Amino acid sequence: MDKDKRPKNKYQKSIDLLNDAVGKEIATSLQYMYFHTHFEDSRYEYLSSIMRDSSIAEMRHIEEFADRILFLEGDVDMNPEFRTLQVTEPAEMLRLAIKLEQNTIIAYNEASRICSENGDAVSHKMFQDIIVDEERHLDTFRTELQNLTDYGKDYLALQSAAGSKHAAREMHRHAHGEQE
Ligand SMILES: [Fe+2]
Ligand SMILES: [Fe+2]
Repeated sequence: MDKDKRPKNKYQKSIDLLNDAVGKEIATSLQYMYFHTHFEDSRYEYLSSIMRDSSIAEMRHIEEFADRILFLEGDVDMNPEFRTLQVTEPAEMLRLAIKLEQNTIIAYNEASRICSENGDAVSHKMFQDIIVDEERHLDTFRTELQNLTDYGKDYLALQSAAGSKHAAREMHRHAHGEQE
């Protein structure tokens, strides 16, 4: 059929929201991969692995949203919402990651609501399910920023030495005088 004579897709609103989400996920995934390479370069092993895992998680979200768009007979706008920001100071990196997750959570809550209002229960649920992942990322980044704020350079130094969350736990325990 001629493209212009096709009946309007009743899920166009969902498709637009899903494509907005794809743009966010691509940009966020690239931003975290950029952070990963910098943390890796600085030998901050734990932060480096967090960013790598988060980048891959966002990549999986791209796939989920893209599959849904095709199912709704739309097409995927596979482009980043923004260019990767060259932020390289650890606390600033975590602050940016927190901001990205917060903005995404707000956008997906709104998208979820709109999909529901338009009778698209599956997209509605998809947004809700992905919000759970984003809140987990937010929690992780907040914890890391807190560790950095509390222990500063010691935390980063310990990461390069021990390279694990274990280091943070040990410092935390020590600071709070807890028993093994
Ligand atoms: Fe995501
Ligand atoms: Fe996320």
